[in-house]
Amino acid sequence: MRVAVVGCGYVGLATGATLAYLGHSVTCLDTDEVKVAGFKGGRLPLYQPGLAEFLTLVGHRLRFVSDYREAIPEAEVIVIAVGTPALPGGAADLRQFRGAVGAVRQHLGLEARAIVVKSTVPIGATREVALSGGGSPSVVFCPEFLREGSAISDSLYPDRIVVGTEDERGLETVKDLYRPILEQTFEPPAFLPRPDGLKSVPLLAVSWASAELSKYAANAFLATKISFINEMATLAEKTGADVTDVARAMGLDRRIGDRFLEAGLGWGGSCFGKDTAELLATARANDVSLPIVQAAREVNYSQRSRVVGLLRAELGPLGGRAVALLGLAFKPGTDDLRDAPAMDVAAELLAEGVRVRAHDPVAIARARTERPDLDIEYCDSPEEAARGADAVVLATEWPEYLGLDWSRVKAAWPGVGPIVVDGRNALDREAVEGAGLRYRAFGRVSAARAAVVPEAGVPSAIDEAAVAAADKPPLRRAPRRPKGGR
Ligand code: UDX
Repeated sequence: MRVAVVGCGYVGLATGATLAYLGHSVTCLDTDEVKVAGFKGGRLPLYQPGLAEFLTLVGHRLRFVSDYREAIPEAEVIVIAVGTPALPGGAADLRQFRGAVGAVRQHLGLEARAIVVKSTVPIGATREVALSGGGSPSVVFCPEFLREGSAISDSLYPDRIVVGTEDERGLETVKDLYRPILEQTFEPPAFLPRPDGLKSVPLLAVSWASAELSKYAANAFLATKISFINEMATLAEKTGADVTDVARAMGLDRRIGDRFLEAGLGWGGSCFGKDTAELLATARANDVSLPIVQAAREVNYSQRSRVVGLLRAELGPLGGRAVALLGLAFKPGTDDLRDAPAMDVAAELLAEGVRVRAHDPVAIARARTERPDLDIEYCDSPEEAARGADAVVLATEWPEYLGLDWSRVKAAWPGVGPIVVDGRNALDREAVEGAGLRYRAFGRVSAARAAVVPEAGVPSAIDEAAVAAADKPPLRRAPRRPKGGR
């Protein structure tokens, strides 16, 4: 099929490249001419592992243009993948989206079968697109669930394809578009083999509104799962439990599952923050409250300050100290700094008069241009960042940090008793402590403290005063089990 993809961000690029790989003839359109010139010259404006290699495989079936007239009139399917960033109050800013829809409508050709909305849009926006055109072509909403850093793999091997459609022709068009993925009949690229046992991908056809809400609900749920384990981490570190063990114990329950239970600095990126904010805005507009989503956000954003609190607890007043920040991107495998926890931590430390020395394998150039307001000292290596620092904070779990030679890092440190704060619970604690460094993390007491206070904070009896103070019905006292009894 002839496909036009409007918008060349993560979603548009991955979608265009994937559809071309499946054999469709794809024109990717972006109104940013500089960006398009870059694509034509083989330059990618974002870091996405495997994408450049993947693009060389699809070569002639994928072209880039900046003018709607070159992309839309011939297209049978038009995919809309422009950004829907958050407005200050949290609601999605649909200006780009509406602009793209208007321009597409203006240039539609006779062979257009469907407009496929892939931008994450609030409930009701797909209907609005349909109403703008009098029923032809079909309008469908296909939420995109790909993750940055693994966009191509997620596109080729998705868990499901959700189609919001209110007519049969729209559904058939999406099936035609994605058939090689639905049936897993394409030849996998050599560097991205098909996951074992994957024989087909389920397609779920639902209404527009259900598909729109599914996307927000999936992201809000994942965000909540992470915030939940972060909440448990806060209690774990007060009570001597280890949140990584708790997460493992929980995750082995197949009803819960072990993914997205990694405690630490919490989530960031272009989706979770924006989508939870939009969900709350939609709820407000519909006179509904979503306390769980609200709490997930509050817990998440407080993690960023908690790391600063942890440093304060270890080092005392922070003014005049130096902190090495390992990782700036919101997660490994990307140079995306949107809502990155590391950038907020850096800002908070700088505001307290701390010197921030940061390293990231790919995101430094972006940090320099996007955050000129932050006076961060950028370093070429983790060891250099650590030089002279009072503490090292791991903010992004890039693989190269996990295998660091901590004795070399220690050697760079003139100070006594330096601290490593593992903001992602990802480091080899024994390796850190073996090098003579103090290890701190969310939800895990230090080895030394764990040995002496295994029962820290366990109430030996109910604190009657606290119970009375809480405005709750009286607790029923559970009989205490004799030691060693069952
Ligand atoms: C997310 C969704 O996963 C994806 O389906 C949707 O299409 C876009 O939003 P993405 O933002 O690329 O994808 O990253 P993801 O891998 O989901 O991670 C989001 C954030 O959560 C990162 O900051 C990551 O570090 C953090 N995270 C993830 C945790 O803190 N703990 C975890 O256990 C998992």
